[in-house]
Amino acid sequence: MLGQEEQQNNRGAPVIELENVSYTYGGGALLSDVSLQLNPGSFHFLTGPSGAGKTTLLKLCYGALLPTSGQLKAFEQDVATLDRDQMALLRRRIGVVHQDCRFLDHMTLAENVALPLMVSGRAESAQQQDLTELLNWVGLGTRQEAVPPELSGGERQRAALARAVILSPDVVLADEPTGNVDWEMSQRLLRLLVELNKMGKTVLIATHDLSLIRAAKSQVQARVLRISQRQVQLAGADL
Ligand SMILES: Nc1ncnc2c1ncn2[C@@H]1O[C@H](COP(=O)(O)OP(=O)(O)OP(=O)(O)O)[C@@H](O)[C@H]1O
Ligand SMILES: [Mg+2]
Repeated sequence: MLGQEEQQNNRGAPVIELENVSYTYGGGALLSDVSLQLNPGSFHFLTGPSGAGKTTLLKLCYGALLPTSGQLKAFEQDVATLDRDQMALLRRRIGVVHQDCRFLDHMTLAENVALPLMVSGRAESAQQQDLTELLNWVGLGTRQEAVPPELSGGERQRAALARAVILSPDVVLADEPTGNVDWEMSQRLLRLLVELNKMGKTVLIATHDLSLIRAAKSQVQARVLRISQRQVQLAGADL
């Protein structure tokens, strides 16, 4: 992983860069010749109809899928060339809120959120304090001992966000982070994501919810990308 000084020197370079990326599965092309840059500290929405390829694009960004052609660079490294260790380091720098936000039901909320710490061998006692702070930040401080089946939809989404940022990633990719929650809860989740961006993190949110995008515009300077006909375009200001 880069040292702090090196990261600062690299501040200008895109954190994620797609150059003529195509993604094809079976017989069908989902993304075709997509070029795109996410600059450090930027805030993006990714929208487009169901099945357009939003989740697929996010998976390409964190190396869960590789482009069929073209190049995807994360932190200036071609993701296709990374070995297992380098890929593990990359995954620590990119926090993901998955669309289906699954948890291990036999473990408590706190244990689920702390799981990435355990897996990366960083579960020291000093981090217990950070974990409590993080759970308080998402408003789940009093729910630490609950098991996932006891959580509401909004609580699950906030737990998924906490789990995505427990390793202090540089980039947060959130896939429909406000799916299945009411308007008030979606605003609360949006505020958390805006707060992360104000702390310097690069944020990309995939969402169908155009009213969420409109609400965000008063809080943060956000670019809106739309997947349409296998291309990613910058959406106009008419949302
Ligand atoms: N490896 C694959 N094999 C078969 N089909 C695939 C594969 N990858 C993606 N697809 C299909 O590609 C389409 C795009 O999927 P994706 O999940 O990226 O869309 P999405 O924009 O995130 O949709 P939603 O808004 O419903 O979440 C879907 O129809 C999906 O079934
Ligand atoms: Mg999706």
